[in-house]
Amino acid sequence: MSDPRTTGSPATGITNPERRTLLQASTALLASGAATHLAAAGSASGAPPSPSAPAAPSAPAAAAPPASNAAAFALAPLPYADNALDPVISANTLGFHYGKHHRAYVDNLNKAVAGSAFAGQSLEQLIVATAGKSEHTAVFNNAAQAWNHAFYWKSLRPGGGGQPPAALKARIEASFGSVEACRKELLAAATSQFGSGWAWLVADGGKLAVVKTGNADNPLTKSQRPLLTIDVWEHAYYLDYQNRRADHVSAVLDKLLNWEFALENLGRG
Ligand SMILES: [Fe+2]
Repeated sequence: MSDPRTTGSPATGITNPERRTLLQASTALLASGAATHLAAAGSASGAPPSPSAPAAPSAPAAAAPPASNAAAFALAPLPYADNALDPVISANTLGFHYGKHHRAYVDNLNKAVAGSAFAGQSLEQLIVATAGKSEHTAVFNNAAQAWNHAFYWKSLRPGGGGQPPAALKARIEASFGSVEACRKELLAAATSQFGSGWAWLVADGGKLAVVKTGNADNPLTKSQRPLLTIDVWEHAYYLDYQNRRADHVSAVLDKLLNWEFALENLGRG
């Protein structure tokens, strides 16, 4: 929570104490490790220029929002080389996915919030404040997709899959009966999600659960704590697997899933 974007902002629409607690936890999820996602422009390499368009002087200069001082979101580097997940996810797929799709969400979010009342809020605050509000669809979609992708890269690792660490395995067995049953639920969620979306392992109350979300949506809007995620948008696998989503997801589950990251997130409760 050292991120300056999470402090001193108006917290528009955040009135539910549970959501506030979740915001604090979810900010910590991305604040760890490679999640320099919220770095201010100018302080991180490759950061887009700070949006600083001056407000039109259509009204007396009373209580103008400090948009010109708002930091821009930056695309954090991948936590591994772009060929590190090969052959499950090729460097070609990873290059387009990260360098084009993820980057576009960050760039479009910066454009969407520049000069608005949302400037200066964290990704998590934006997601909760705009979820389900049709007038803020562009901010929600791009904020959520920026968050989801930063979380997704960390949900994978070279040499992943296999058995979870003992502490996580015990929680999985308590909720699903076995690691294999959890794996089956993740596979079913990922392959049954109609169209674009995400499959997630989450903590929901005292239990772990598998959920799926459509398009940009994520569990933060439902007061669930994400532990790991699998991207099932076609851009995540089509270059390598074409229409064979199940083959892609199976390979991710068995060879890339970062159980240690899930345990880290569970431990932040
Ligand atoms: Fe994606």
